Amino acid sequence: MSNIKISPSILSADFSKLGSEIQDLEKAKADLIHIDVMDGHFVPNITIGPEVINKLRKYTSLPFDVHLMISPVHDFIKNFAEAGADIITIHPEATDDLVGSIKKIKSFNKKAGVSLNPETSVDKVLPVLNLIDIVLIMSVNPGFGGQKFMKETLEKVKILRKEIDSKKYNAKIEIDGGINFENSKIAIKAGVDILVSGTTIFKENGGDLKKNIQLLKTG
Ligand code: DX5
Ligand code: ZN
Repeated sequence: MSNIKISPSILSADFSKLGSEIQDLEKAKADLIHIDVMDGHFVPNITIGPEVINKLRKYTSLPFDVHLMISPVHDFIKNFAEAGADIITIHPEATDDLVGSIKKIKSFNKKAGVSLNPETSVDKVLPVLNLIDIVLIMSVNPGFGGQKFMKETLEKVKILRKEIDSKKYNAKIEIDGGINFENSKIAIKAGVDILVSGTTIFKENGGDLKKNIQLLKTG
């Protein structure tokens, strides 16, 4: 059985009915719910904030995988922790003190993630790899769903896989952006543990969530 987990991005869901969209994802056997938070400053798009996440919390018991594309992020960590995030992922460029921000996430008993943009070196995360639960490799430039997968980002996945396995760290590798039924296979082969997907899950096969999640999982 595959250990790959699927974290559907609700960026591709119908924002006017997010509660039922999330319930449908749970029925379709999603493992996590990926929530993209954008501020129009760190990335050129604006999505949702802690109040919406708080209202969505009652619709599912699946973990909320909250990807913060906001800067400066540090003082908002508390708001997302209290809103019901289970994983809080931040970008190194969005904080002056990466270790301090990771510790803050942990102080709320949440899982901490660090995300690397396509142009961000793997060196940014290696020194904190022992402190975190998730490394989120961006395989598109963050900001929008439906972009083309950047294959070269898999080099970072391979480096991280080796490092995590050899040092026996707990961190999981998650990949985000442009994942489809073809590149999901090479991402899994490169060593990812968690696939994020918006467009493929919500739009392929007439929007058959269950089928699309299953197809991504089996590689
Ligand atoms: C992009 C977001 C992604 C995005 C993925 O900034 O972080 O989570 O929603 O969507 P697809 O799968 O459509 O690339
Ligand atoms: Zn994301």
